[in-house]
Amino acid sequence: MHWTKSFVAAIAGCALSLSIGTLAPTASAQASAPTSLAEAGKDQPTGSEWWRHAVIYEIYPRSFQDSNGDGVGDIKGITARLDYLHDLGIDAIWITPMYPSPGIDYGYDISDYTAIDPEYGTMADFDNLVAEAKKRDIRVIMDYVINHTSDQNKWFLESRSSRDNPKRDWYVWRDGKGETATDKGQPPNNWQSWFGHSAWQWDEKTRQYYYHYFYVQQPDLNWRNPDVHKAMDGVLDFWMKRGVAGFRIDAVSRLYEDPNLHDDPYLSGRNAYGDRNIQHKYTDDLPQVHDVLKEVRSVVDKYPGDPVLVTEADEPNVQALSKMYGNGDEVQLPMDFQIADVNELSAPRFRELFNQIENNSAHGQPEYFFSNHDQPRQWDRYGDGVHNDQIAKLMAVLELTTRGTPQMYYGEELGMRTTDPARIEDVHDPIGKLGWPKEKGRDGERTPMQWTSSQEAGFTTATKPWLPIPPSASKYNVEAESKNPNSILNTYKELLALRKSEPALRDGVQISIGNDSDVFAYLRRSRDESIIVLLNMSSKEKVFAFRPGDVQLNDSSTLRPLYSSTRVGESISPAHVVLPPFAAVVAKAQ
Ligand code: GLC
Repeated sequence: MHWTKSFVAAIAGCALSLSIGTLAPTASAQASAPTSLAEAGKDQPTGSEWWRHAVIYEIYPRSFQDSNGDGVGDIKGITARLDYLHDLGIDAIWITPMYPSPGIDYGYDISDYTAIDPEYGTMADFDNLVAEAKKRDIRVIMDYVINHTSDQNKWFLESRSSRDNPKRDWYVWRDGKGETATDKGQPPNNWQSWFGHSAWQWDEKTRQYYYHYFYVQQPDLNWRNPDVHKAMDGVLDFWMKRGVAGFRIDAVSRLYEDPNLHDDPYLSGRNAYGDRNIQHKYTDDLPQVHDVLKEVRSVVDKYPGDPVLVTEADEPNVQALSKMYGNGDEVQLPMDFQIADVNELSAPRFRELFNQIENNSAHGQPEYFFSNHDQPRQWDRYGDGVHNDQIAKLMAVLELTTRGTPQMYYGEELGMRTTDPARIEDVHDPIGKLGWPKEKGRDGERTPMQWTSSQEAGFTTATKPWLPIPPSASKYNVEAESKNPNSILNTYKELLALRKSEPALRDGVQISIGNDSDVFAYLRRSRDESIIVLLNMSSKEKVFAFRPGDVQLNDSSTLRPLYSSTRVGESISPAHVVLPPFAAVVAKAQ
């Protein structure tokens, strides 16, 4: 398992069967699909807000495009590639942190929230990026790292300077257990850092421990202090005034800790760092998190343009995920880690999880993704080692034809693969050094974007980019794939265009069809239009037959393919759809 938690075991497999005309019983209230079209559509809020219909594209700025030959991507590089993004068909970019940072966690340790790291450019470069993106109808979403700062942030430098500094309480300081004037004692309790070992760091100068959920160099802010709220609200104002479209809020479930410092319960086994496994019971998902989300929402809502909030919160189940919507007054797009963390190509598993989402009590807008800067890329995770390209296309269909806001990760549209460092000496991400070889860190999913087949992949003119160019770049790159109509890149383009042109794919309800163990089939329907999606998630040829009443087809109905990974002709009979291994078909009922 990668460092990103997988909670896939949380909900046991429970398949169900459904047809639209002939209703089948639901397996359980929690996992059931809507029982009719009317019911499916009834409570789902629809609206014209841009983020409901957008496709978000995550950019890891170090790795997207270098414009000044130092081997590190930068803002001017992103601006230079806006035409590519526009042509691809995405609507918004989320850029991971570009703020000044010592770079221990590659930008997620922020030393100044309202500036741009010179490594990435200047504030003028940033303003220009926003303006140029706007000309192309692309919105810019910033990363809001709310749980912790860098230990080099001036707030923390002040806080650690003395016990009576006014900013002392901006962070979480506690006495050690059994501490004396000469002995630091033991950490206050057994809480563990997500990145290994104790979450408490002894500070000799003021003789107390500070708390850090992540690296030692990332002390947690104390959200129980009103001044922290004021300062962090000011950060939101600063970027909203510069024209950003919203924020992706980092590690939001970690904001509060139990004030009584209860020990976390141990679980069986040990993690990659050699620590006993632990349940983060007293540091995750405390109810006060929701007050902060409401506050963030009220700050951004002062600005026009329907600002969006996306949360990184790897919630343990759909109920916890649904809480992130609040009463429509928290976040619009909680990232769905339940689905992102499915590490197998399994029709029953996907069917079950998508059904849960369609029934979530909040009826909020889902946000789907399969790759990001913290977890191995989807090409490897779902690939079987033989049909990876075909499977990459199938996953693109799943991501781009379901009801929700898809979030892509740069390079997934090329079939970029995870390329872990071969030796510990080459690792950049500190957890990769600490956990080697079980945990190789996250360098593998952060390699430079593959623009061309040249030696440095068109990413940089430097001879040594900050991370090496994967060998697969010679074949999987924008230049080569643009020329091949069947490439992964052109599949993405086709699907992104389809999503824009087909109302049922943009707004339609989603209903699972059937109960096949290999084929995940679903209907997207809006008004009179029905689109069906068939995904053969197996290496076997499958014949899929719609049952009478499914998707309101009748004997003379046909399906007109809108996208097909396999040759299917002008029309398909719903009684006999032949699906070669890993085939994906999107078709309109007529
Ligand atoms: C989030 C980020 C990850 C980072 C961590 C600590 O999970 O996605 O990259 O290391 O927060 O900021």
